[in-house]
Amino acid sequence: MGLDSPPKTWYATAMLLMLLQSTTSGGPRGADALSSYNCSPSPSLPWRAAPSLPRSAVRMAASGKELGGGADPEVDRRRWLGGVARTASLVGGAAACSTGCCSPRAAYGLATIALPAPEAAAAYDVARNQVQDAMFAQGMAIGMVDYEREAAPAKKRLFGRLFSSLEDLAEPTVVEVGMGSFPNALYYKGRKGVDIVGVDPNDRMEMYARDSAARAGLVPADSLRIVHGVSEALPLEDNSVDAVVCTLTLCSVLDPERSVAEMRRVLKPGGRLLFWEHVLSQTNPALARRQIELTPAQVRRADGCHLDRRTGEVIHAAGFKKLDMEYLELKNFALLNPTVCGIAYK
Ligand SMILES: C[S@@+](CC[C@H](N)C(=O)[O-])C[C@H]1O[C@@H](n2cnc3c(N)ncnc32)[C@H](O)[C@@H]1O
Repeated sequence: MGLDSPPKTWYATAMLLMLLQSTTSGGPRGADALSSYNCSPSPSLPWRAAPSLPRSAVRMAASGKELGGGADPEVDRRRWLGGVARTASLVGGAAACSTGCCSPRAAYGLATIALPAPEAAAAYDVARNQVQDAMFAQGMAIGMVDYEREAAPAKKRLFGRLFSSLEDLAEPTVVEVGMGSFPNALYYKGRKGVDIVGVDPNDRMEMYARDSAARAGLVPADSLRIVHGVSEALPLEDNSVDAVVCTLTLCSVLDPERSVAEMRRVLKPGGRLLFWEHVLSQTNPALARRQIELTPAQVRRADGCHLDRRTGEVIHAAGFKKLDMEYLELKNFALLNPTVCGIAYK
């Protein structure tokens, strides 16, 4: 598993493509971005066909280039138009729902997607290598099945706690920071009227995220908005969301402290941050040494992923009112076994 996994044929081909790309493009991210993740397709899992990507007005209004582009009247106009289109689609959806034909129900009380601070977006939303992004997105979508399977019991408990604490809210807004291919979709199953906002700088993740949402039955898609953005400059207003979910993302961000501060900023008072992150081992010095040694290579080849982060300490220092945090170790993922997870309360 992890860095020690033997490459499979498809994976070797993918790596070759990425290496070729990296030597010609000079992109900011590593050449073999998938290697640390358990990327070999599970024999029982059919290769996922990429679903078609809906390009709705909402998506246009909230897409990365526009959000990252600063104050531009054309952008504002299109964002506004997106809002109008969305309202129209919601009205249509409401009519459909009133006939009892659509389940689960869409969310209607939507959090506003805002332009992030332009300097922060410029500093942190850096240029990306599209080929590597596509490879990484596909690798995450199909290669983390075993990891997710092992993590599932603990993640299920965590999400269960989160959603039961949101039960009194008719339409909670939940922001998935670094949504990726949205493996967490299955934990939203059956939650009615959740307004889900996914934020990710890798635009190639969206089609897999939408696919995961559809597989988990999180339709209609109106309740899922996916926007380009980074955790260091979240495209959301202060005190505007009920929960933030951040799983396996703080290992990859440029600035973990700033990212957690941003998550806290956008949470309403009393809002919750659910986190699940692989970290530096706290119990095994030999493993910790290896994680530190291998981090530079890992950063280069796994989309900025650090094996040696002390993410628990970062969350602890972020000024949350209450923090329920657990350190646990998975069994089968070598350098990715040590994990911190929990819920922080603003
Ligand atoms: C290892 S994947 C995890 C994805 C998903 N949360 C999961 O649990 O599988 C890391 C994700 O973080 C995203 N990411 C990288 N840098 C980021 C940043 N600065 N802000 C937000 N997301 C980021 C990547 O594009 C990728 O989708």
